[in-house]
Amino acid sequence: METRILSVEKDGLEAVCAACREVFLAGGLAAFPTETVYGLGADGLHGENSAKIYAAKGRPSDNPLILHIGERAQLKPLVTEIPESAEKLMDAFWPGPLTIIFKKSAIVPETTSGGLPTIAVRMPSHPAANAILKTCGIPIAAPSANLSGRPSTTRASHVIEDLTGRVDLIIDGGDVPIGVESTIIDLTQEIPVMLRPGYITLEQLREVLGEVVEDPAIRRESIIGHTNEVLHPKAPGMKYRHYAPKAPLTIFSGSEEKVREKILSLLDENTGVLTVDEHKDAYPEEHRVSVGSLKEPESIAHNLFDALRRFDEMQVTAILSEDLTDADIGDAIMNRLLKAAGGSFVTLE
Ligand code: TXA
Ligand code: MG
Repeated sequence: METRILSVEKDGLEAVCAACREVFLAGGLAAFPTETVYGLGADGLHGENSAKIYAAKGRPSDNPLILHIGERAQLKPLVTEIPESAEKLMDAFWPGPLTIIFKKSAIVPETTSGGLPTIAVRMPSHPAANAILKTCGIPIAAPSANLSGRPSTTRASHVIEDLTGRVDLIIDGGDVPIGVESTIIDLTQEIPVMLRPGYITLEQLREVLGEVVEDPAIRRESIIGHTNEVLHPKAPGMKYRHYAPKAPLTIFSGSEEKVREKILSLLDENTGVLTVDEHKDAYPEEHRVSVGSLKEPESIAHNLFDALRRFDEMQVTAILSEDLTDADIGDAIMNRLLKAAGGSFVTLE
């Protein structure tokens, strides 16, 4: 398949929106930027169209897709009810990086919902995504625009690398602002459950709703040492090894000094080190990738997937990572890093 590439900056938003509309209405695939990560979109209301996403990504078909909308009025036909809790969350966080799970209506095909009776919906705030969705007028099913299992895409170059020849259109909208996927909350249970940590934190959700629980499978302790497989996360996609660079990744935790000593002792010519600005000088330049500054956890979120992809370019055979931050968006950062490591985490006493 030939893949057309358009740029928001060079070709203009109007041309980009028109091209996406044409592709989506013809049942094709287009990748576009959102504020979290790039998305790989298709018409979400016709199963034969959204099914193409699974093939292009190499994604298991039991892993449901998120429907993206440009206006709140598009939500009602997709769901059987809109609980009051959802109204509160939408008022507080939409458009923005929050995905809400509802009971789905009959018009949402099971291919899109991965066979589940529920559907995930999100209204992105990225100006290009929002304009594209408004122009198309149909809900667009869109997972992250990466090959299944690989790190999500936060730069147009990542999307071009993974999806050229597999999709009809790629929209280059520059680097995305946030860099980790949306927070997911399930409102179909008696008590709201956070299924995936993201830019919107558990505390922020609790400020709006009161009681919110966390799916136990997404906690740090659950991912470490693969116990996740036993816990069965409620978001099907959270159960796979994910976000992963090609080389195996191990995370080291402990005092700054112990971590540095351990990583230096394991370093050889084929090893990469994932570190932060504050610690990077301890490691040789050819081996290290600094993901951002501990003083700005948002910089770490912004660069994380790019850093993981850099190790593929360096062709290292092993990656040694420092335990990154737990502050603010740190919950989401460590969730992704632990998944990329397949739970390989060493605590240094
Ligand atoms: O930020 C984002 O959410 C990005 C951008 C493109 O919007 N999208 C994204 O989609 O991350 P994806 O497909 O990579 O991740 C969606 C996650 C998966 O873990 C999936 O299993 C879960 O959401 N999910 C989707 N529908 C669900 C449902 N009905 N019940 C439980 N989990 C669901
Ligand atoms: Mg994904």
